[in-house]
Amino acid sequence: MRVRTPVIDFSEVRPDWAPNREFAHYYNAASTVPAHVEPFLVKVMMRARTELASRPNQQRLLADVDIFIKQEVQHCKRHVAFNQRLYDSGYAGMRELEAPYEADYRRWLEDKPLRFLLAYSEGFEAMGSSSAEVFFTELDDYLEGADESAVTLWKWHLAEEFEHRSVCYDVYKALYGHGLRSYLYRLYGFVYAVAHIGSHIKRVNAYLLGQDRRNLSETEQASSVERQQQVKRRIARASLPRLLKVFSPFYDPACKMAPPPGMAQYLDL
Ligand SMILES: [Fe+2]
Ligand SMILES: [Fe+2]
Repeated sequence: MRVRTPVIDFSEVRPDWAPNREFAHYYNAASTVPAHVEPFLVKVMMRARTELASRPNQQRLLADVDIFIKQEVQHCKRHVAFNQRLYDSGYAGMRELEAPYEADYRRWLEDKPLRFLLAYSEGFEAMGSSSAEVFFTELDDYLEGADESAVTLWKWHLAEEFEHRSVCYDVYKALYGHGLRSYLYRLYGFVYAVAHIGSHIKRVNAYLLGQDRRNLSETEQASSVERQQQVKRRIARASLPRLLKVFSPFYDPACKMAPPPGMAQYLDL
């Protein structure tokens, strides 16, 4: 694991960066997630780091936490830059939908226990490594002819999510153990994260598509809805079996198979 600082030029990227506009908008909506969850993750892991430092023999995990934090900072910065292009391209209304989502994280940092914060964070991380496998293996036809900068943003980010997939899990286990309660609470955090993040993406996606559809004829609107459903079905079908593995009491992200083909080049950036 290491920190990478790729230079990605978003000055020319368009909101419809992929030939399938509905596909692009799904990921445009998803791009608002790291802008808010990743600063939250950094703060959670800094708190966890302090806890962990008081335990014996955690030097290796502490070193991983440091790299994890630095990687998340880099991800967040680039998604914020990408999202700015969306705001500047006629989708400034996204910000209104992001505000309450961001406020959730701010509030949780004030009033939720570290156990919840970490279980939620691990839930997000489990979603991230699963999304990485999906993006690299199941979506090639959607990515054909897509803008290089947007593809690089997602592939680099998700490659690092895959790379650091065990860190949050290992921290959670180191602090809360391997018992039944720890397992059930991890599942609670995962389900909470899937529902919270999923509903946010759905709202932003609906806004983005709604903006576009204002200028479409009824027939074009129907085609757009059909493409949206196809994208949704494809991503859900590819994600579901991977996400179900998280429910196993034997789930351990370190046991995931080798990185998907094509990922290594994004770890050489
Ligand atoms: Fe990230
Ligand atoms: Fe991550």
